Formats: sequence, structure tokens, C-alpha cells
Amino acid sequence: MNTSTKQLVALWLQNKGQKLVYKEINDRETLFKNGAVYQYRSEDNKLKSAIIFRLGEERINDITKILFYFERKKFNFKHMETRKNKNEFELYIELENLDCREWTHIRAMLETLIHVDIYPRATTAKDKTEEPTNDIPEMEDVAWFPKSIGDLDNFQNVLMYGTDLDADHPGFLDMRYRKRRKLFSEIAMLYKQGRNIPKIRYTDEEIRTWGSIYTHLEEMYYHYASEKFVKNFKELQVHCNYSRNCIPQLQDVSNYLKRKTGFTLRPVAGYLSPRDFLSGLAFRVFHCTQYIRHSSDPYYTPEPDCCHELLGHMPMLADSEFAQFSQEIGLASLGCSEGDIKKLAACYFFTVEFGLCVEDGFLKAYGAGLLSSGAELAHVMNGIRNNSVTVDMFEVEKACQTQCMVTSYQKRYFITNSFQDALAALRQFASSIERPFSVEYDPYTQRVLVLDIEGKENRDENEKQAKTKKILDRYEEDQDQEE
Ligand SMILES: [Fe+2]
Repeated sequence: MNTSTKQLVALWLQNKGQKLVYKEINDRETLFKNGAVYQYRSEDNKLKSAIIFRLGEERINDITKILFYFERKKFNFKHMETRKNKNEFELYIELENLDCREWTHIRAMLETLIHVDIYPRATTAKDKTEEPTNDIPEMEDVAWFPKSIGDLDNFQNVLMYGTDLDADHPGFLDMRYRKRRKLFSEIAMLYKQGRNIPKIRYTDEEIRTWGSIYTHLEEMYYHYASEKFVKNFKELQVHCNYSRNCIPQLQDVSNYLKRKTGFTLRPVAGYLSPRDFLSGLAFRVFHCTQYIRHSSDPYYTPEPDCCHELLGHMPMLADSEFAQFSQEIGLASLGCSEGDIKKLAACYFFTVEFGLCVEDGFLKAYGAGLLSSGAELAHVMNGIRNNSVTVDMFEVEKACQTQCMVTSYQKRYFITNSFQDALAALRQFASSIERPFSVEYDPYTQRVLVLDIEGKENRDENEKQAKTKKILDRYEEDQDQEE
């Protein structure tokens, strides 16, 4: 946290008759360099988090968005106030925290707000124009990223839906469905890396929903899906119980992928931020939803569900070339600038999710978004035939300038001469991303080695993290003893 931010929080606390008696212990403070976030022990011996958002006049309505977000996470609000400061509004939120784990949770959660543009901001000259940039971050400005596969346990922050469905979700009014979603959320939140993913006894209604989608899509695959996809889909039918009458279990699919390409699955409660999702790929881990869409409309879902993951993604993840490529994209995403994350996410979206390619002179789909939605697959294939959809040859810059549609059909699709061409274009872009360090994956320890420009392991960062962990552990022990 920079000095002005610290002073600002101190001032807020002083105005309320409190002062900082415990210095903030977050050693990964680069995460919050541009935001007013302070975590401290108050004079009455309570653990607290103080967060200040600065909003320009045009963003005043974001206050409700921010409060809604915090309220959904069920934090213990202690105080909130707003203040007008020249042309800005400041929103001050104070939360009381149970323990240091909650501090860590808040910090991780705040990072996800970057992606929905309500991240707390400071008003340094740099922040005034804070749009994602492609500037190479200084080493001390690099956002925290997982260094070992176990670090994936540190975030489970979903951007949409998750435990609490919004009013626009098809299952919002169905209490049974919402209760079911809570179960899936709990499984995802409690999951620890390396454990088996709990098996689900899917209900008859859920299997019926799966069955209609499966039947509809299986037929289409033989006409429209790429050869690799079809070949692996057939293997999944044999080895992982893929059929219209059975929703495959994530653990069975994970075991199969592990044998074939080294990928494993990890349950997730909903739509993850692009940075979090891509960082999982660096460790050959695919964050995978386990719940199914609402039965009222089997052909529409505003979020990824097990039909999208199991039908759309798994066949490609069972391809060794695609698996290697996915890990490369994941490694390229670690610690890169917000601008580059946005570009990587857009390229991923228009290829891995919605990509088309040419095979033996025929147009084929390999994107999971298309291959898990019969309606959109038909829309794009028919649209190309009668010229009613926009299709361009894939180019990184063009893809980055195209809006990603999440709840409707894409306005533009991208095609490559072959599936390999798409991988090559993304690889080239990924290798052009500049960072003040490089990374190397050690498959034996499942760790990422952070190397400086000369290729030496950057021990400072690792040591810093070990030190922070030690402090946190000691602090939690103190807390336990006090209790
Ligand atoms: Fe997807």
C-alpha cells in the first residue's frame, strides 16, 4: 500500500476515534498498490478491513454494485459512509473479520473486482487514467499468482452466480434448484487440491436435461465438429460413461484426462475471473463446474455448466497437442499485465470457446461454446451458408477488439485454415507477452519456478511468500490461543 493510501485510511480511522494499532501484515501488497485497502487490529482488539473506493461522478451508481457484491459475500459490515471530494465520491467500507483467513479471502476477492471494474482505486496521477495497459509491470507491481498447484486452493472467487443466483437466472425462482446449487458451491469451496472430487447422485430431472442436450448435440458433432473432437468424444463414451442416460462424474473424467494428457479437473462454483481461470491451466488444471443448467430451458444457460464443460471442453482437453497449448497459455498469463490478460482472454474466447477451422475443405467447429450449444452451432453454420453471420480469419488484434458475448450469440466468429493455425497464432501472441521475469514449470513438483531475466530462480519472491505465510500462521496461532 502506498503512503498516501495509508494516510487516507489512518485519517478515516482517526475521524472515527480509532487508530491503527496493528500494522498491516500483507506482504503481497503490490496487489493493492493502487487501492485503499487496509487490514488491522483495532483498539478494541477486533480484526478489521477498511476499504476505500474512489468513484468519479460518472461512476456514482457503482456504489450499489459494490455494496451488493459485499452483501452477497455475507461479510460483517461495521460501518459505511460516503464523502464528496471535488469531482469524486469516496465510499468507505469497514468490515469486522473473524480471523486472518477472512483477510486473505477479502484480498483475493478484491482482486476479482478488477475484472468487473469496481476495484478500489487511489488517485495518483497514474490511477486517474487507469485503463488496462500493456506496460511491462515492474517486479514489485506484479500481481500475486500461484506458484504451486496447491496455491490453487487460495481462490474460488466466482464473478457470476455461484452460490447466490441473480434475478435474471432461469433458476432464480426455483427454490429446489437454488438449494441444489448451494450444494455444488460447497463442494467447490471445500475442495482441496489433490483430493477426489465428490461424486454426485444426479436427479432424474437433471439427467433428463443432460439427455436432451446430449442427444441434440451428438448428432450434430458428426456433421460439424472437428475430427480430433469427434475421435476423443467417442473415447469418452467408452472410458467415462458418456451417454444420454448418464452425466459423467468429474473424478472419472479427471482420472482419464490425467492418464491421457496430464490434465486434471477441479470443481468450481461458477464463472471464474479470466486471470484465475487461466492460471489453473498453467498447472494443467481445468476449473470445471459440476452443476447443470435449469431444466426450464435445456438449450440456454447464462453461465458455464457441466454440459458445457463435459461436452464442449473435455474432448479437446484429451488431445495432447491441445493440452500442451492450454498449459502454455496458462503459463503466459501468470503475473502479466491487465491489458495482456484481457487480450489472452479474448483470444482464448474466440478460439478455444468459439473457434472454427477448415478440415478437408469443410468448415468445422472446435470451440467448446459452439460444441455445447446446438442452437449456436446451427446459427453459425447456417449463417455462414447464407451470409448472415460475420466470420473473419483469426487475428489477435481483431479478436481483442471484438466484444465477447456471454448471454447471446457472438456477433463475429473467427476461422483459421487449420486447428493448428489457431494454436500457432495464440502461441505467438503468448510468447510476445513481456514480463520482468520468466516462468518454468516443473512437472515433478508441480511448481512454477520464477526466473529473473538471466534465468536465475527468483528466490526473493518465494522467500517473501514463505515469510508472509509464517507471519500469518503465527498470527493465527496467537488468535487461537486468545480464544
Ligand atoms: Fe468454456
